[in-house]
Amino acid sequence: MSYTPAMRESIARVEATRAARLDETYPRLEHEEAQAVLRKYHPDYVAEGMRQLRVGPNKGDRTPLELADVLEAAPVIQPGMVDLDRVDLETDVLVVGGGGAGASAALLAQEHGAQVTLVTKLRFGDANTMMAQGGIQAADKPSDNPAIHYLDVMGGGHFTNVPDLVEALVMDAPYVIQWLERLGCMFNKRPDGVMETIHGGGTSRKRMHYARDYSGAEIMRTLRDEVRCRPQIRVLEFCPVVELLTDANGTVTGAVLLNLENHEYLVARAKAVVLATGGSGRLHYQGFPCTNHYGATADGLVLGYRVGAALSFLDTMQYHPTGAAYPEQIMGQLVTEKVRGLGAQLCNIDGVQFTFPLEPRDIESAAVIRECVEHGKGIPTPAGGVGVWLDSPLIDLKHGPGTVARELPAMIRQFGRFDIDITREPMLIYPTLHYQNGGLTIASDGSTGVAGLFVAGEAAGGIHGRNRLMGNSLLDIVVFGRRAGRAAASHAAGVALGHVTLAHLDAWNQTRAAEGLDGALLSPILLPDYTRHDRTPLAAPVR
Ligand code: FUM
Repeated sequence: MSYTPAMRESIARVEATRAARLDETYPRLEHEEAQAVLRKYHPDYVAEGMRQLRVGPNKGDRTPLELADVLEAAPVIQPGMVDLDRVDLETDVLVVGGGGAGASAALLAQEHGAQVTLVTKLRFGDANTMMAQGGIQAADKPSDNPAIHYLDVMGGGHFTNVPDLVEALVMDAPYVIQWLERLGCMFNKRPDGVMETIHGGGTSRKRMHYARDYSGAEIMRTLRDEVRCRPQIRVLEFCPVVELLTDANGTVTGAVLLNLENHEYLVARAKAVVLATGGSGRLHYQGFPCTNHYGATADGLVLGYRVGAALSFLDTMQYHPTGAAYPEQIMGQLVTEKVRGLGAQLCNIDGVQFTFPLEPRDIESAAVIRECVEHGKGIPTPAGGVGVWLDSPLIDLKHGPGTVARELPAMIRQFGRFDIDITREPMLIYPTLHYQNGGLTIASDGSTGVAGLFVAGEAAGGIHGRNRLMGNSLLDIVVFGRRAGRAAASHAAGVALGHVTLAHLDAWNQTRAAEGLDGALLSPILLPDYTRHDRTPLAAPVR
């Protein structure tokens, strides 16, 4: 594949400026200019991309069109469709989701005496956790402390974050690193045994712990192995939840699962439910490609919203500044921020650096879009897209030969498959949909306003405010997964299994009908639909 001749001409200009840029520090944007760039170029500010919700606890609030559609959609099942007297499984704590948050919740709930069942839509570990690359933040070095971490998180979120949640995040972080290491997680270490830490965008201290450039896979491996080692935790794969169950008071008492192998519904009674279903990148807001795993379709938001849990920050999504823009086969896939953390710079078609490489993500993404749209300095791709250069060869020049190979093996492989050698050539990148900044509103123990319902991980909202910094997601899934698991176990210890009904759907259906909503779309949608509806049907074969 390699690069086109026109791209090679531009790369020659990047090479020509490289030596002069080696020690160049591009200035950070001043606050006012950063805000102006955000408002003009960040997709969150594209008015046509949002609309007001017509039903539910957040009625009147704005959210992306695609999310509004699934939140307002008709339920997959209706009262009477499933025999709720035939209970298939009973458990104290039902954890929904097989990523890092779900696994952490299951472990802590089990440690606190609960009988635990973890159900997951695809395989255990098919989750955004597995795909996270750059690292996990924790203020555990002498030059750092949780108060400084707190200020960085708040600054990154434009001081909109919920303070109690940020406090929980940064205070638990050092312990979480120790816990993961005790379970077997292999973070990169210096020869003296001290963990390596680097910068991410918006961090004032080097507190990013990492396992080369597959930190999420290493953390997921560790947590999944630990769950698998505890036979007391039951795991059901390929069984997504299609609806929560409630009693007459609206308390969550279980869930209806869909067995994807035989398409039968299963009724699960539980004393507490933890939703850890992850994000929604596969809704492809505003047509953006995404870094997310195949099952990231906002299921937990839909399920929680329908039983009355409110959403926070539902009008803000994270577009990672560096998604692959070329070759098309990997369009939108993550190019970890660690590449910039190690010193790579962003250059335009003329080989000129145009932004500070480690701005918070929303600002960095908006700066890339501005360079392409307003300044017309992007590099066109054969498929009609555009991107800018991420000059990775700078890394070996700055830190010595072999650094890229040692620190970024997954990146080398991702581009090497297409004959692009990132130790010698830059990567073409453009912002890609990466993360759901908001989600279901939680307290610091993962509880929601709905009795029996807890939420953790990307499905939760408030921790990161309007913008998350790198490495705080791998952290939050473990911090709040653990907290939600513990709180769910303690809730379960004090209640009996409740009645299971779909009574909440009566009210939901009435509200929808009053707003004139039809039943064309059913949610949770469970999997994205990539069918080409615009394609002319194939002609009948000639015989
Ligand atoms: O760039 C990255 O490696 C992504 C990390 C994150 O979203 O925390």
